[in-house]
Amino acid sequence: MNHLDPNRHVRGESQYLDDVPVQQGTLYAAVFESPLAHGVLRSLDFSAALLAPGVARVLTAQDIPGINQIGGIVADEPLLAEGHVHFRGQPVALVLARTEAQAHAALKLIKVEIDPLPIITDPRVAAAQGELIVPPRTFKIGDSQAAWASCAHVFEGVAESGGQEHLYIETQGAYAFPTEMGGVRMISSTQGPTAVQRHTAHVLGLGMHQVEVDVTRLGGGFGGKEDQATPWGALAALGAFLTKKPVKLVLDRMADMRMTGKRHPYSSDFKIGFDADLKIVAYEVTFYQNAGAAADLSPAVLERTLFHATNAYFIPNVTATAFSCRTNLPPNTAFRGFGGPQGMFVIESALAKAAEELGVPASKLQRRNLLREGDLFSYRQPAEMCHAEQAWDTAAQQFDLAGMRAEVEQFNQTNKLKKKGLAVMPICFGISFTKTPMNQTRALVHIYSDGSVGISTGAVEMGQGVNTKIAQVAARTLGISISRIKIETTNTTRVANTSPSAASATADLNGKATEMACAALRERLLRHACLEYTLNYEGLEIHDEQVLAAGVPAETNWEKLVSSAFWKRVALTENAHYATPDLHFDATTNTGHPFAYHVYGTALTSVTVDCLRGTYTVDALRIAHDFGQSFNPVIDRGQIEGGAVQGIGWMTMEEVAYNAEGRLLSNSLNSYKIPDIYAAPRVLDVHFLDTPGHPKAILRSKAVGEPPLMYGIGTYFALRDAVRAFQGHTALPFSAPLTPEKVLVSLYPEFAHEPSATVATAN
Ligand code: MTE
Ligand code: HPA
Ligand code: MOS
Repeated sequence: MNHLDPNRHVRGESQYLDDVPVQQGTLYAAVFESPLAHGVLRSLDFSAALLAPGVARVLTAQDIPGINQIGGIVADEPLLAEGHVHFRGQPVALVLARTEAQAHAALKLIKVEIDPLPIITDPRVAAAQGELIVPPRTFKIGDSQAAWASCAHVFEGVAESGGQEHLYIETQGAYAFPTEMGGVRMISSTQGPTAVQRHTAHVLGLGMHQVEVDVTRLGGGFGGKEDQATPWGALAALGAFLTKKPVKLVLDRMADMRMTGKRHPYSSDFKIGFDADLKIVAYEVTFYQNAGAAADLSPAVLERTLFHATNAYFIPNVTATAFSCRTNLPPNTAFRGFGGPQGMFVIESALAKAAEELGVPASKLQRRNLLREGDLFSYRQPAEMCHAEQAWDTAAQQFDLAGMRAEVEQFNQTNKLKKKGLAVMPICFGISFTKTPMNQTRALVHIYSDGSVGISTGAVEMGQGVNTKIAQVAARTLGISISRIKIETTNTTRVANTSPSAASATADLNGKATEMACAALRERLLRHACLEYTLNYEGLEIHDEQVLAAGVPAETNWEKLVSSAFWKRVALTENAHYATPDLHFDATTNTGHPFAYHVYGTALTSVTVDCLRGTYTVDALRIAHDFGQSFNPVIDRGQIEGGAVQGIGWMTMEEVAYNAEGRLLSNSLNSYKIPDIYAAPRVLDVHFLDTPGHPKAILRSKAVGEPPLMYGIGTYFALRDAVRAFQGHTALPFSAPLTPEKVLVSLYPEFAHEPSATVATAN
């Protein structure tokens, strides 16, 4: 079963926001952004813009009929700046014009006066000044303080990881239409239709029932449209509401890069202690998260960093503290892994540091400390159906870790200017929204009288294949061909109060709701068949569109059964609600059972560094992954490949850079590099581990969206291994991304000098 969409994609038939035929009278919106990162808004003069050709209106905070607020977790984010500006690129005004070019031209005529205030871009500076988004959080198990005394070895250090631009192919945007009831209907490129609906309703001073949000599909989201599709939807809706004309707002690439938040950069302190057998006894870590100028999803991202601070390892004494630091950068947001990768990079740095100091391979420390069945995470959920050791051992055996190691050593002995490096990266990732109430959704299933089926859920298709998976679940449950099934657009009037498509949980949540609705319909149809054809309900099933009674074809098939049920006035529509059972978490003690289950896996990475140039290739990425019982191996493998390469990009080449004035320097694809086919691993093997899956995973097929990103962390440590093979034992900082530039400096530390133009990277 292939992904249902790609044929349409390559033919150009798939409809994205920008493909929607434009309605007559449509106004185009362009956003006037703050040119300064921090200051007091003194005056805004748009009189010249109003007179410019084609301009219909210029809107500011004063035009908002409801409340000027779009903060999802903390109410600290105005839709349009009012009083102060807090980051460069912050929306200040909206120009509406007859053409897109006219709207953009008019932006240049707007004059703004801002009294500058001090700019903070560094999270540690923000923390020192008490600029925190929310109070700090600490996850604690055992007593790390008391445990240091019993440690044979203790190591401390600092680790920094950078931001990451989502670079979804389809930029942010929305198209809003006024409705006859004084509300708005809109098409939005969002992972969270309900979030767009809710905030738009607040901004317009309407009930949520007056705002309809429709999503066909996204050209990628990667977390960047979980919360940050909201401003563009709300702005377009504001324009449509006030002018009574359709309003379209689509960001161009550079505006999108400037104005939207990214993965959170982190700066972290770690301390790790081992006993004489190299078992980890204690771990203390403090995370400084660069949240940007408003909360957005930062507190939730921060929490997931704490959940994943120990990755796939068991540590009896852990104290993990996290600060969400307010800086004058665009609010950072969800990005595949949602804080997990940042936490995992630090523990892997701590293990690498310990291994380097002890003179043992990091893999020895990693393997010895893997989670085992029943081990407690710091938040007290036990590791159940734990496959950490199985994943490691299978990868080591399947891909011949010892042979890979020998090859690297041999190569390094015989080569002077090229060095190879190797790293093992185990992962463990919790599946569920960490905010328990978000783990609910609904499916609305219609069987039409001709036997075709329409399904609406809260799931948003963004390339991850969730529509295909939902269609498969329905086809299996109903016993019919997938060609009868249509997955409808995601629409807030058909399925209300949804969580965003995120947390890798979309297929689990919406698949389970679909399964429930389809199972109810199947039962109803089979009960009808019993009456109509005097059959026994026991042993009755639908298989390949044929009704079978105890395995024997009955005198009816799917089409006939549906038709007869319709004429007998049997309800052919079902709505099911699914809420993941047994989840709970107490945010005052930071303990509970927040995850339905965990996903495990292990990646082996080998790289070659050109020690003259600092350039490198990823020779092989070999992954043993816990898919459970995958019912779509093609899609699932694609998620592993895409996620892993995205992780490699974050760790090696994607460098989000702001200057001290909070101006984005990596503001286009000239200065921001993401992996292309040449940067991808030369060999990328995926081994499907033999695991039973989990009953809370859809059809026992485990969530797969985010976990593979973290395999990319192995590339960082493989590169570090190669650099150390070249230059001996000089201490290298733990600082990602490890760009070719940084590799070159690491190879020749004696030539490293203070950078002449001080460029603050995002952390
Ligand atoms: N895959 C594609 N092709 N496009 C995307 O935008 N987003 C990722 C992942 N894989 C994404 C993707 C992220 S951040 C998440 S949370 C999951 O898909 C969301 O979908 P799922 O819950 O269905 O896995
Ligand atoms: N993951 C992704 N998105 C989220 C989460 C989460 O755990 N919580 C809230 N939004
Ligand atoms: Mo994914 S970061 O949960 O959208």
